[in-house]
Amino acid sequence: MIRKAIIPAAGYGTRSLPITKVIPKEMFPVGVKPAIHYIVEEALDSGIEQILIVVSKRKGLILDYFDDSLGLEVFLERENKQHLLKQHKIPDAEMYYTRQSYPKGLGDAVRLGKHFIGNEPFAVLLPDDIVLSKKTPGLKQLIEDYTKHQKSVIGLNVVKPAFLKNYGVIKGAEIKPGTFQLDDIVEKPKENPPSNLAVIGRYIFTPQIFSHLENLKPGAGGEIQLTDAIKTMLQTDKCFGKIIEGNRFDIGSTNDYVNLLQTISKMD
Ligand code: G1P
Repeated sequence: MIRKAIIPAAGYGTRSLPITKVIPKEMFPVGVKPAIHYIVEEALDSGIEQILIVVSKRKGLILDYFDDSLGLEVFLERENKQHLLKQHKIPDAEMYYTRQSYPKGLGDAVRLGKHFIGNEPFAVLLPDDIVLSKKTPGLKQLIEDYTKHQKSVIGLNVVKPAFLKNYGVIKGAEIKPGTFQLDDIVEKPKENPPSNLAVIGRYIFTPQIFSHLENLKPGAGGEIQLTDAIKTMLQTDKCFGKIIEGNRFDIGSTNDYVNLLQTISKMD
């Protein structure tokens, strides 16, 4: 059973400057909800009970958003607008926060969750990636595989060759349609990507990943990379990858963000 999740939300959002000077990327509106609302909902719909969000300076809006807003509730009741109470409801999750003081990379952000996680398997959801799936929530699809193998499972997406340089890319053997046993993984390959299977921001890890996150040297982009910890984990442990069914939108890409808004407006 996977009860805990880490959502790393400490990046500066440099791809989306200048708006990210004042609005964290995770708080970009998607309809009337911020992007991170969809991530937390996906986690809860997948059975997660406790969520640690790793924030950084100027991300206070995220904490405010998930707070109770008693004043607003009293106001809506007094004004006889009870019907709006349901609409403004935030996901009912047990939330925890910690701060990354310097953006050292995704691997460092996940490492900060070590004590929160303790000694149990857990999920990581990257809030850049919104996954809209018709049936099973993206994360839940990975949990189903974890339940079978009891090994770490990474969300994958088939990506056009020109874009592979933006992602972690795996090498692996397909053990059943859509599920791969990893042989290798490379962060943002500049050339010769090992496959067309890119990592999307959903992971299930055994707690062993933390020992591989210790003492990691900066990798691609000078950052401590989660991908590099997965790579060393592969020397001693099995790890699987699963193509996630659903549409994935990267809200740090203006094109994807606009597509997401259009898709959501058609769904409403
Ligand atoms: C991160 C990971 C990368 C993964 C990507 C998915 O990269 O390091 O392996 O493919 O998320 O969105 P980032 O987008 O933070 O540069």
